[in-house]
Amino acid sequence: MSFKIIILGSGRGSNAKAILEAEAKGQLGAVSTVAILSDKQEAPILDLAKQFGKPSQCIPCNPKKARLHPDETKAFLEAIQSYQPDLVVLAGFMKIIDSHFIESLNGKIINLHPSLLPSFPGINSIETAFNFPVKITGCTVHWVIPEIDAGMIIDQKAVTIEPNDTIESLSEKVHAAEHQLLPEVIRQLSAGEVPFPN
Ligand code: GAR
Repeated sequence: MSFKIIILGSGRGSNAKAILEAEAKGQLGAVSTVAILSDKQEAPILDLAKQFGKPSQCIPCNPKKARLHPDETKAFLEAIQSYQPDLVVLAGFMKIIDSHFIESLNGKIINLHPSLLPSFPGINSIETAFNFPVKITGCTVHWVIPEIDAGMIIDQKAVTIEPNDTIESLSEKVHAAEHQLLPEVIRQLSAGEVPFPN
């Protein structure tokens, strides 16, 4: 039986690509990406879905608002629930979702964040860690709760900031770590190696 995931993203989709490539290589066991959804029509993540032959859909959202409007939440939930996924993966999804969204999916939502939470939540986390400056940063996959970037941590991967690093080189290192971490966490969840929250 397949373990169905839906990926939500707002941007270039390099993490969605890492998941789809690992899935295509048979590295994710029973994991099957059933759809990719975005709040932005022009997001490259939607082209990526086409390249991999996956259904994709844009749910148009007000770009000026950080939080999803209740009507936008309804449209996302209808699209997501039509696929009956086992897990929803936020991979660069830059909208804030509410408790209704989370409860409607029984909390089966994970988020990828580009820092070692609880350090540097919110936006521009790689730059903020670089400028702090810390010596070690990284990425985190956590369960989504209504508080931003605050849910239970599932796994993390550390990245060392070297003296000759720039924001660009650090960003590359953090993204490379994300591309390993996120598919592996999804595989572990699908295989029952990591528990779902109660
Ligand atoms: C990733 O670095 C992810 O951690 C971050 O957006 C990027 C998406 O990249 N997410 C957040 O900042 C969420 N607050 P991608 O579109 O290439 O996968």
